[in-house]
Amino acid sequence: MSRSQLATHVSAVAKRDYKNFTATPLTGSFAAEISGIQIADAIADDELFTELRQAWLDYQVLFFRDQELSPEQHLAIGQRFGELQKLGYAPGLEGHEGVWVQEYPDMFDGIVSDIYWHADSSFRPQPTRGSLLYALDVPAGGGDTVWADMCAAYEDLGPEWQAFVSGLSAVHDNMTRNLMSALERMSPQEFEQVRSYLPPSEHPVVCTHPDTGRRFLFVSEFMTREICGMNERESTAVLEFLFAHQTRPEYQYRFNWAPGSLALWDNFSTIHRGIFDFGQQHRLMHRVSFNTPWKP
Ligand code: SIN
Repeated sequence: MSRSQLATHVSAVAKRDYKNFTATPLTGSFAAEISGIQIADAIADDELFTELRQAWLDYQVLFFRDQELSPEQHLAIGQRFGELQKLGYAPGLEGHEGVWVQEYPDMFDGIVSDIYWHADSSFRPQPTRGSLLYALDVPAGGGDTVWADMCAAYEDLGPEWQAFVSGLSAVHDNMTRNLMSALERMSPQEFEQVRSYLPPSEHPVVCTHPDTGRRFLFVSEFMTREICGMNERESTAVLEFLFAHQTRPEYQYRFNWAPGSLALWDNFSTIHRGIFDFGQQHRLMHRVSFNTPWKP
């Protein structure tokens, strides 16, 4: 039964002994706080990097506090995990291609996508594999980010639902929620350009993780437009169930940022969203994302 699969994974993770740092589990299924290291030290230290990558696979989302990370180091650690994603949806940091600057309230003037649950770039044929989000300035209160564990969400479905959704695929489209806002902001030519540059992609609703072999749900309210081969009513009913199911509090962890905090997440097997409850206060994050081959 699905619940016991989850329990097996959790106890296996909890028993792993890391030599170079402490991993403190933050929920019963995923997410851990890593203490005792600066992540930048893993750039040149192979043993530390290998262990850190293992912890990332074990916990799917890792959090670090009090990190000192220059943009060069940020890019270098991202590059150890995969191929850097150069194209961003936020402005790039001058002189540091691949570091995206996520700064509020400035970005509220654009299309704010992070307020809906999503896996980054799932509308691409090759979705983003992971991201390193680093906080430079944060509001006095609020501005958290919340992640949800898509392995747990899949494993927690009953066997009939697991079998049903495992046979489905879905269309992921960057315009699922952004269409009206994009049409209002862009000229027809700009819209056409964006559309041909970022067309929708089709992905299985249940994918197998390339490293851990675990199965995970791969849909999200922000990106997933429809289930292939269903009419609109059928597709909406299935997706609404999955969107509600995958965001149950049981699968979530909510992180409160401080300057110097860093999150490293597996973007295949988790979804996330920002909590934009901080009005016009300043929030500045640097982000590096990376790709590895997508073979769902
Ligand atoms: C994101 O959705 O990629 C970032 C979320 C955040 O800024 O909290």
